[in-house]
Amino acid sequence: MGRLVIVSNRVPDPHELAQPAGGLTVALADALRSGDPCLWFGWSGRQMEFEGDPAPNVETHGSVTYATIPLTPAQHRGYYQNFSNGILWPLFHYRLGLMSYERADWFRYLEVNRLFARGLASMLEPGDTVWIHDYHLFPLGQELRNLGFQGRIGFFLHIPLPPWSLFRALPPAEPILRSMQAYDIIGLQTEEDANNLRGCFEAEGLSGADRVRPFPIGIDPTQFGADARLAFAGEEVQRLRDSVHDEPLIIGVDRLDYSKGLQERFLGYERLLTRYPEHRRHVTYLQVAPVSRGEVEEYRLLRRQLDETIGRINGAFAEFDWTPIRYLTRPVPRSVLAGFYRLADVALITPLRDGMNLVAKEYIAAQDPDHPGALVLSHLAGAAPELSEALLVNPHDADAIADALHEALTMNLEERKRRWTLLDNEVRSTTAGSWARDFLTALDAADANVDGQT
Ligand code: G6P
Repeated sequence: MGRLVIVSNRVPDPHELAQPAGGLTVALADALRSGDPCLWFGWSGRQMEFEGDPAPNVETHGSVTYATIPLTPAQHRGYYQNFSNGILWPLFHYRLGLMSYERADWFRYLEVNRLFARGLASMLEPGDTVWIHDYHLFPLGQELRNLGFQGRIGFFLHIPLPPWSLFRALPPAEPILRSMQAYDIIGLQTEEDANNLRGCFEAEGLSGADRVRPFPIGIDPTQFGADARLAFAGEEVQRLRDSVHDEPLIIGVDRLDYSKGLQERFLGYERLLTRYPEHRRHVTYLQVAPVSRGEVEEYRLLRRQLDETIGRINGAFAEFDWTPIRYLTRPVPRSVLAGFYRLADVALITPLRDGMNLVAKEYIAAQDPDHPGALVLSHLAGAAPELSEALLVNPHDADAIADALHEALTMNLEERKRRWTLLDNEVRSTTAGSWARDFLTALDAADANVDGQT
């Protein structure tokens, strides 16, 4: 058996505790707890000028060896900010109007995928299995094949994949879909995403639809539950508890991203205060929204819009001894958040689109089985089909959010327990570990596809 080699743009910094981790690094880090030796290759998070190919920086922590390379400022802008996060991210979250395409960015994207391929190829051994992650790296498998790598290569997309009617608006739709023919297995979060990709292949006359499969991602619920119990006894939870004086607490935790529906969510909470005034002066809504991709224009605009909305709502509803919304844009360590989830009576998670949303699963795993809270979840999150016992809402409908919040805040203990038990079973049935094992078993069993042809 060769090694497992993971490749993703973002690699967790083993020294940094409070990074605004996205679902990708969180789930993979959980999945890797198995202890088998693994190489994880990606971007170092640094920008610097260099000539020729940069030598990977290699560091081993436990069973995982991290090999990372820097990007030049021009590569970072073209490949990461513009093509990955200014073009692919909005389009794949069904926000065609936010996509701003430039051909030069596509060329940078290809250049960086080739740079990754050369850097990685120098470290690969013949029996290795390569598992590539997310939209930054669609062409990487093909580039590795071009350099002669013949082992298994799998790909997993952590974000949604839109139907062909939207996908075709991407100028390089065809070369991206064609490059994906190099993969032995392509994993997506949901059945809907998998069907969309099959439809794209079909529309372009490409085969490979049989290698496309849904693998919904999970967390490590046992570990997270233990973290939550520990944090619950800690100082931060005590301070939060003292500050709300036994009154109900709603929590939301999301990267500051337009796909998360934060603006719509604040308006839904405002509607709660308007239509159900009995909650005024009692309920507190704590939103943690660490700033993400702050250099991208759309994210800067969103931040300004949220500052204004929250300021307006707090200004209109606050009393001298009560603030309706508490809002933090810096990251809070996941170990502390686990305790906040356990304390919170309601989790409010209403993305307009989301690949999966692991916060929803973490909230469930963190609950006290004797006093569980209630989950209000967007029906457009990838997690919704699995978490159907949550209070599912349309995130665009402020009145629906207000009604669901009111229902959550007034739900009796028996009903909360009934729903939570079913949700907890779901969260335990697909974990980060079982997700990774299922994917790798399928990859191992797949027909070899060494030349990228079908
Ligand atoms: C999402 C993506 C990940 C990404 C994360 C954080 O979860 O699927 O690929 O790493 O967001 O975003 P960032 O741009 O900071 O890596």
